[in-house]
Amino acid sequence: MSSEPKRGPLGGLRAALPEEPAERDPLGSVLPRGGIAGAGGPVAVPDPSGDVTARATCPLGICDGSGWLIDEEDTARPCDCRQRRIERARASGLKSSLPKRYRGVSFDRPPVSDMARQPGLSATVGAVRRYCETIDEQLDAGHGLWLMGGPGTGKTTLAMLASKAAIDAGRTVAIYSTPALLARIRQTFDAEGGEDGYLAFFDRLVNVDLLHLDDLGAERSTDWVLEQLYAIVDRRYNDERSIVFTTNLDEPELTEQVGSRTVSRLIEICDGNPLPLLGQDRRVEFAPGAGPPQPS
Ligand SMILES: Nc1ncnc2c1ncn2[C@@H]1O[C@H](COP(=O)(O)OP(=O)(O)OP(=O)(O)O)[C@@H](O)[C@H]1O
Ligand SMILES: [Mg+2]
Repeated sequence: MSSEPKRGPLGGLRAALPEEPAERDPLGSVLPRGGIAGAGGPVAVPDPSGDVTARATCPLGICDGSGWLIDEEDTARPCDCRQRRIERARASGLKSSLPKRYRGVSFDRPPVSDMARQPGLSATVGAVRRYCETIDEQLDAGHGLWLMGGPGTGKTTLAMLASKAAIDAGRTVAIYSTPALLARIRQTFDAEGGEDGYLAFFDRLVNVDLLHLDDLGAERSTDWVLEQLYAIVDRRYNDERSIVFTTNLDEPELTEQVGSRTVSRLIEICDGNPLPLLGQDRRVEFAPGAGPPQPS
């Protein structure tokens, strides 16, 4: 008997994907429109976990945190931050925070500040820095990053800088190792549907501003996996949404693993430009009895 999960309503195929769902207003049922006029300080809004007690401030510094502005005639109009809030609420249920190990990543601190001085790495660090410094522009244009190299060379560290920049800019982000994402998709087939079902999860995943896929190519390749990855990448490619990904595989190996149609789209999203991470596994540096790393 096959261990593959059942295909679910879409089968992972682009041709079978539904039309874009009608735009919902995930905040509408929570934000009391009538009660906003005259609101003073920060107001209660749902955070991505659905906690309606979180105190909000306007990320753009324009409104009082309610997402609405009141003119002289007491008429409410949406603040520019409202669309971002709607997108964030829509992205709820996705893994969107940095893992503990990478939470403190910064260009100003080791290991990244050290990497920036290493001959085989400085150009890659420079490219990631430029991406982070222009994060809004990059995400609006659907540009991504492709970080390629052996284990323990700093790929995830650099990719996390991009995710951090996007989060700090108030953009929506989903961060998954590829095998974990596929496991999560499998779980949605066991759900009854609704917010936990495949359609809702797929919709959230393809609509975040940045999808960070770690360890692409580390998954066991099956037809089902290929279909899932293609469906996600193709939809984001069509909608000009960014993907940042890391992989241990070079381009021919990645093509072998995830398929040429998926890789072709990733190449265009990342401007045809894999950023190489050279050198040896830095984790062995911390292994008991390991000597200092040798120059590459
Ligand atoms: N060039 C470097 N200089 C110093 N420390 C580094 C360097 N590159 C990575 N490290 C350290 O090595 C560890 C692994 O880094 P990271 O997780 O970014 O590697 P990776 O390339 O994503 O590996 P993998 O392919 O196995 O996922 C981390 O502790 C990181 O701080
Ligand atoms: Mg990694």
